[in-house]
Amino acid sequence: MKKAVCLIIMLANCIVGLSAQNPEQPSWLGDAVFYQIYPSSYQDSDGNGIGDIPGIISRLDYIKSIGVTAIWLNPVYVSGWTDGGYDVIDFYRVDKRFGTNSDLMELIRQAHSRGIKVVMDLVAGHSSDQCEWFLQSKEAPDLRYSDYYIWPSFKPEGVTGAGASLLSKFVATDAPRGPFYIKNFYDTQPALNFGFADPDPEHPWEQAVDAPGPMAMRRELKNIISFWMDKGVDGFRVDMAASLVKNDPDKSATIKLWKDDLMKWFGKEYPEGVLIAEWFNPEQSIEAGFDLDFFCHDGRYNYSTLFFYGRRGFGPNATTTIPYFDEAGAGSLKEWYDLYTYQYDAVKGKGYVCMPTGNHDFNRVCTEGRTNPEDLKVAMTFFLTMPGVPFIYYGDEIGLKQNPAAPSTDGSGFRAGCRIPMLWNATANAGFSTASVDKIYIPQDPDPNRMTVEKAEADPNSLLHYVRAMLRLRKEVPALGADASWKLVSSLEQPYPMVYERKQGNERCYVVLNPSAKAVTVTLPSESTKPVLIGGNYKKCTYRQTGKGDVISISPVSAAIYKF
Ligand code: GLC
Repeated sequence: MKKAVCLIIMLANCIVGLSAQNPEQPSWLGDAVFYQIYPSSYQDSDGNGIGDIPGIISRLDYIKSIGVTAIWLNPVYVSGWTDGGYDVIDFYRVDKRFGTNSDLMELIRQAHSRGIKVVMDLVAGHSSDQCEWFLQSKEAPDLRYSDYYIWPSFKPEGVTGAGASLLSKFVATDAPRGPFYIKNFYDTQPALNFGFADPDPEHPWEQAVDAPGPMAMRRELKNIISFWMDKGVDGFRVDMAASLVKNDPDKSATIKLWKDDLMKWFGKEYPEGVLIAEWFNPEQSIEAGFDLDFFCHDGRYNYSTLFFYGRRGFGPNATTTIPYFDEAGAGSLKEWYDLYTYQYDAVKGKGYVCMPTGNHDFNRVCTEGRTNPEDLKVAMTFFLTMPGVPFIYYGDEIGLKQNPAAPSTDGSGFRAGCRIPMLWNATANAGFSTASVDKIYIPQDPDPNRMTVEKAEADPNSLLHYVRAMLRLRKEVPALGADASWKLVSSLEQPYPMVYERKQGNERCYVVLNPSAKAVTVTLPSESTKPVLIGGNYKKCTYRQTGKGDVISISPVSAAIYKF
């Protein structure tokens, strides 16, 4: 009897292990691989030096060939362009620099015909100060959009606790509704009014989350979502998703707003739609109902110690801390491991922690001495064999190099260095645009030996071919997929090589990573069988079963994947 119960439990575990982790998520998400496109920098079709939607359409076959299954587009809405499109003037219209709404519909149609999903950016927390809503709101308190924004009548003094940090977001204005409005990011980005967690009766501008103004704001947000979802969009990456409710230090009111209202509604209306949080705290965002969240450069939970000298990876050697993925072989895994496992354990089975190869806000992986294709292959092996959904930032598949000297463009500041135009071929401006070089959105790498898609296609050893091979492997081997379990099996005290186990049902893999310029060896617990090598860029990798444990030796700057 006991035996039978055990068997049933084991079988049940197997079944759970094999199905998508959370039945409430879109069914396609567990197998998804995202490709993030910064539209101004991908492909220019009309020769004005700035990328556009018809340009992206013309590259869909290439995108498909990488092995990705979904695209995330940075904002394409009408914008004031003081923050790379994140200062939205019209949430219902495509900016003319990219084309028209019809061009976007055509992109969706053509992407879908290739089996590729299209996800847009949803700037939920703020608009441009040029948005019609703001222009009206700043005039008078009793118009349709008056309560879409927050208008403090004075700047409180002696505030401590939650309210104190909001004071830095007060922007002085001579608008009739002044003297202040509250911003979310830059001064040009007034915060939309989703209410305050605990309104202070002495501060009449602090409305409750369920007051008429914030409720109207929610209806507008749903309307924007429906407008695009009903046109075939597959979901959104929600910008600053944690920012909605003000004075909410533990985020409980923001979580509640998403979970009890927006998510319930979205899940019912669009069960196959995805909502991706830019929250940088999966424990909170998955609780709020998001399908996945990022773990990269920002917030407390980040992977900076793996890839960057500086805290967020800006500028060369900003601090002397040597990152883990560096040929010096002097990095540590400890800080990242503690942060990552905390989040991984917190959301396992409910949602995904995703470590993107890069994004439009921080240094590219191809930077700071890690510009050799073999270094990048080791890093890519990591990104593409971890649990969660992989996100490839456009160009990272060919090793597009960070340009630290790129001039600030559209309010990017230092972020211009990672928003550089894609390099396609040997024609003018690397095939990105036919405009004169001085009109190119952000200057391209002038190096005559720069990598391009064309060169990468021609070289069987290129990073591009490697990325394709990794994605094929990920698809073929469920143990390398989004839902398979993850466990570090090497020791934090001896971080090179890093070895982790991925496991799904009875299938098990070891991923072995040695970013250092030295050959390294690790001894692991004895296994009953010897695994086979199924992928990697290793020159040499051996697995020996000794009486005192299993010993893996791996060549410098190498990655290897074993399957038991
Ligand atoms: C997000 C975006 C960033 C933008 C900011 C304000 O962090 O990724 O690019 O500047 O929000 O919208």
